[in-house]
Amino acid sequence: MEQLNHENHKGQFGSGFGFLMAAVGSAVGLGNLWGFPYKMGANGGFAFLILYLILVVFVGYVIMITELALGRKTGKGVVGAYKALSKKYAFIGWMGAIAPWLILSFYSMLGGYCIKYAVANLGDLFGASWGIGDANSGEYFGAFTSDMVQTVIFSLIFVVLTVLIVRGGVSGGIEKFSTVAMPALFIMLVIVIIRSVTLPGASEGLAFMFKPDWSAFEGTGWITVLAVAGGQMFFSLSLGMSIMIAYGSYLPKDQNLERSALVIPFADTLVAIMAGLATMPAVFASGLEPSQGPGLLFITLQTVFHSMGGFGPFFGFLFYTLVFIAAITSSISLLEGISAVAMDSVIEKGEKPDRKKIVTILGISIAITASLVSLDGLGANGFPQFFGQGCWLDAIDLIAEGILMPLGACYCAIIIPTSLVDEEATLNGARFRTKNFYDFCIKFIAPVMMVLVLLGQLDGFFGLGMFS
Ligand code: PHE
Repeated sequence: MEQLNHENHKGQFGSGFGFLMAAVGSAVGLGNLWGFPYKMGANGGFAFLILYLILVVFVGYVIMITELALGRKTGKGVVGAYKALSKKYAFIGWMGAIAPWLILSFYSMLGGYCIKYAVANLGDLFGASWGIGDANSGEYFGAFTSDMVQTVIFSLIFVVLTVLIVRGGVSGGIEKFSTVAMPALFIMLVIVIIRSVTLPGASEGLAFMFKPDWSAFEGTGWITVLAVAGGQMFFSLSLGMSIMIAYGSYLPKDQNLERSALVIPFADTLVAIMAGLATMPAVFASGLEPSQGPGLLFITLQTVFHSMGGFGPFFGFLFYTLVFIAAITSSISLLEGISAVAMDSVIEKGEKPDRKKIVTILGISIAITASLVSLDGLGANGFPQFFGQGCWLDAIDLIAEGILMPLGACYCAIIIPTSLVDEEATLNGARFRTKNFYDFCIKFIAPVMMVLVLLGQLDGFFGLGMFS
């Protein structure tokens, strides 16, 4: 393969720390906050955690280092990167470019919801009329999701903020924002955890999450649990599409690849567990049932904040701001993933890409799709539905998370030569300490796991009952 020029006009991360904050920012998102704690509790608790950790180490880490290496080696976004391996692989690149575009449509809507709830809790802090007040959380959420004007406006605010950051470039926009936002998120999370675990009755929530329950693995149950854990892992680590390839292409050659690939999954998993500590104890302390998805974030947790009395709106504001930060550092990575592809196509023509223009045009396309998904209001507004799903979000998620991402990761494991990863990991005389482990996992473990995950995801989404 030809050695491609790295002066690619798209930008570069200024420091190793900045790169890590951006990559961890991409990984840490709604997936950690609203999915992980519940899935862990509902699928075997501590037993799930062990399996999840095994998957992260044996599959997540190896796909992570492979994608980062491919990006850095080729200096291209996902389409150009796979094309550089062979023209016939361009279709894998296109799958990796469509997935983030799809995800952005519902991610922006949910990001908009977070802004709305942060603002509403702020209102409550001052007893303002635009707060939530004494409204029932479920009814308030229902009224909001079916208010088409409001939901579209908040989604658009989220899209505009995402576009503004990405327009600022890799180091001037994405890195600068993430370097401030991620440590801030961490501190806010710690504050919310302290409040949550000190509430009376909090220990039940800890038991829900951490109590080992191996019965979930009985019979063919382990395949279901494996699929849940595997799907969660891909989504949470932003793997199987364009993100880590694009971020890898902006990683300076003097940064140690192996270390980066280890830190990102570690930090992501840490935040996922911390998210559980922040939410589950509070849910149980308020005598509520845990759930996942929008219901957990916007109904259950809002009920918790309301029941906290005077300090409730403060913690509510802090929490929804934190979720907003987690969401926007993910959405900027999604937008950058597709922008990189568009910029590459201009560079290929021998021209210098106009980042601001490209990002804005893509932003407009996302503003349209995000508005459409918002209008559906999680299925509340009676629009026709697809693929047997209850709302457009779920139908789009099925295509992106259920099919495109595991397929993308599967191809990545099968076709990227291990020599490419070895070369990138040993630049500047670095030692690739996990080389043997990597070679073994990428050949034997990762592809098998991915096929199981794909089957399990499809089974779960379509309710086929293949494994029950
Ligand atoms: N990893 C993010 C989360 O956990 C979502 C995401 C998926 C972001 C894919 C980028 C790419 O919410």
